[in-house]
Amino acid sequence: MDITALTSGKKDLFDNYLHAYLAAEGTSSGIFEAFAYSLKAGGKRIRPVLTMMACECLGGFAEDTLPAGLAIEMIHTFSLIHDDLPALDNDDLRRGRPTCHARFGESTAILAGDALIFQALSAITAAGYPPRTKLDILEFMAEVCGVKGLVQGEYHDVTAEGKELSMDEVRDIYRRKTARLFELCMFTGARIAEGDPEQIESLVGFGTYLGLAFQAIDDILDVTSSREVLGKTTGKDLAQGKATIVKALGLQESRRWARDMTEKAVDLLPAKHGTRVKDLKALALSMLERMA
Ligand code: IPE
Ligand code: IPE
Ligand code: MG
Ligand code: MG
Ligand code: MG
Repeated sequence: MDITALTSGKKDLFDNYLHAYLAAEGTSSGIFEAFAYSLKAGGKRIRPVLTMMACECLGGFAEDTLPAGLAIEMIHTFSLIHDDLPALDNDDLRRGRPTCHARFGESTAILAGDALIFQALSAITAAGYPPRTKLDILEFMAEVCGVKGLVQGEYHDVTAEGKELSMDEVRDIYRRKTARLFELCMFTGARIAEGDPEQIESLVGFGTYLGLAFQAIDDILDVTSSREVLGKTTGKDLAQGKATIVKALGLQESRRWARDMTEKAVDLLPAKHGTRVKDLKALALSMLERMA
């Protein structure tokens, strides 16, 4: 099934929640404008959708994940705003619109990214989850985003420009800058559904492999797709000498690797948790179709 058809109901649920949040929080300040601009800019909303699916797969309700899904989408959006800055990837197009710094200036974009991190924290603390659930989500979030997680991955990504990296090193960058946030989605959804540690562990493992495949596909699409289709600049990884799987293995092997990771992800899905596992499997397979 096509990724849009598979996720549209959940994406709408998320977008409505986001709009209500922005209407309730809204101020007329310039920083809020930049903050809301980047959040509203669209995007596939894969992370909140994944969080919903993880929860449903263990018998929970998609709606219950909305505050946490919003927090994760905020972290993701912060990472995109900062990733696009002139000092990092220097991109002027994101989600089909000018990047945050292209539209509002660099200092506002940096601060909008900062604001997103802290709003994410308060989206979790303000949610109606039991205190222990909130703490567990915040603990996992801090671990996957910090100096061993997303930020480290982004650091390694920019400092590796122009260097020849082994596939193991590329995989390490992918794990940290991308896959760990997918792990957070799976952990969060499963934790809200009150899954047991074993269930949570296998769903987090699914997130690892899915995230690795996702970043490989993103790097393949940077070579094979277009600005119009992706809503962001293409052909840039090669121009900037980025350490990608395509550079390490070539296109054909990269596609094979993405399929392999997806297969490993799907193999980790718990067999006995009813029909909802099917949605996660379909989502993983539909991601592969993006690179076809
Ligand atoms: C882009 O993520 C950054 C990567 C980790 C490759 P997405 O492809 O999920 O971006 P949006 O949210 O749909 O714009
Ligand atoms: C993922 O890598 C970025 C983050 C984890 C923020 P890219 O730099 O390839 O992402 P795009 O292509 O700019 O979306
Ligand atoms: Mg980057
Ligand atoms: Mg980038
Ligand atoms: Mg990319």
